[in-house]
Amino acid sequence: MGNRRKRILSGMRPTGKMHLGNYVGALENWVKLQGEYENFHLIADYHALTTNPDTSYIFENTIDMVIDWIAVGIDPEKSPIFRQSQIKEHTELFLIFSMLITTARLERNPTLKEQIRDLKLETITYGHLGYPVLQAADILLYKGEVVPVGEDQAPHVEITREIARKFNTTYDKVFPLPEVKLTDFARLPGLDGQKMSKSVGNTILIADEYNKIKEKMKKAFTDPQKLRKGDPGRPDTCLVYTYHTKFNPDETEQIYRDCTSGKLGCVDCKMKCSKAINSVISPFREKRKELEKDRGKILDIIIDGEKRAREVAEETMSEVRKAMLLG
Ligand code: TRP
Repeated sequence: MGNRRKRILSGMRPTGKMHLGNYVGALENWVKLQGEYENFHLIADYHALTTNPDTSYIFENTIDMVIDWIAVGIDPEKSPIFRQSQIKEHTELFLIFSMLITTARLERNPTLKEQIRDLKLETITYGHLGYPVLQAADILLYKGEVVPVGEDQAPHVEITREIARKFNTTYDKVFPLPEVKLTDFARLPGLDGQKMSKSVGNTILIADEYNKIKEKMKKAFTDPQKLRKGDPGRPDTCLVYTYHTKFNPDETEQIYRDCTSGKLGCVDCKMKCSKAINSVISPFREKRKELEKDRGKILDIIIDGEKRAREVAEETMSEVRKAMLLG
């Protein structure tokens, strides 16, 4: 491996336009680390099928998602962006890895349990149980050493380490043991205090205009005991205050004081917050508008990323086959 830069492998399922939770939970870190690391960014289109076999929305969602990735600062020249489904080595390594982990271990995966509960699933598919095994293949095909993701993905990185260890001891030392990298806001709450998520409808999108942000912010939950302007508030339990700490660090202290003393009402506080969020995301929104004009170019960028990613994937697979005495 010489003294090459360490490698990052991270990705997301193609969920369409990105929200602030995606940004502060992962994307911000991807951008920050790009340069210090060699980044690879995967569009997990096969993973999308684990909870919904409908493929009709995947292409549009992929383009929308990649537009946001680039708009926030991912530079596709430096950091290949590619679809899992276009590089067949993912499925090949997934199959091999599936022999190196027990079903009992996969049934204990807390992220799976959470999904079963949240989506009220009565049964799951074989592929859904194997979700982390495919993710391990995604990471290890590129010998990813650092995996910046949201908190819910940490158990999958743990399983990836176990599989890498198992492969290395059973066959030959081919893989690094990747580490998860969380942000301070690995789980940003949505406007209702639950985890921010498209399916719940509690998001602020990177594409949202200032007016839209204000309108959404009006509905955000605050301290339920603060009913009118003069009432003292409890910022520590307030969602809007959490947003201030992230998006409005300069004013945060003042806001804390004025909220607890009752001087600052929720309506004004929310307007300050909308303004702060807007000033962070408006450059992304403008860039997104530019990129929107040529969606065909986004596909070209992805295809180019796939060429570069495929080279690495092929190289790793030949090492895997050699280690396993296959062929
Ligand atoms: N499971 C991740 C998510 O839902 C997406 C993903 C697939 C991923 N493969 C990955 C993330 C590899 C990091 C590394 O967000």
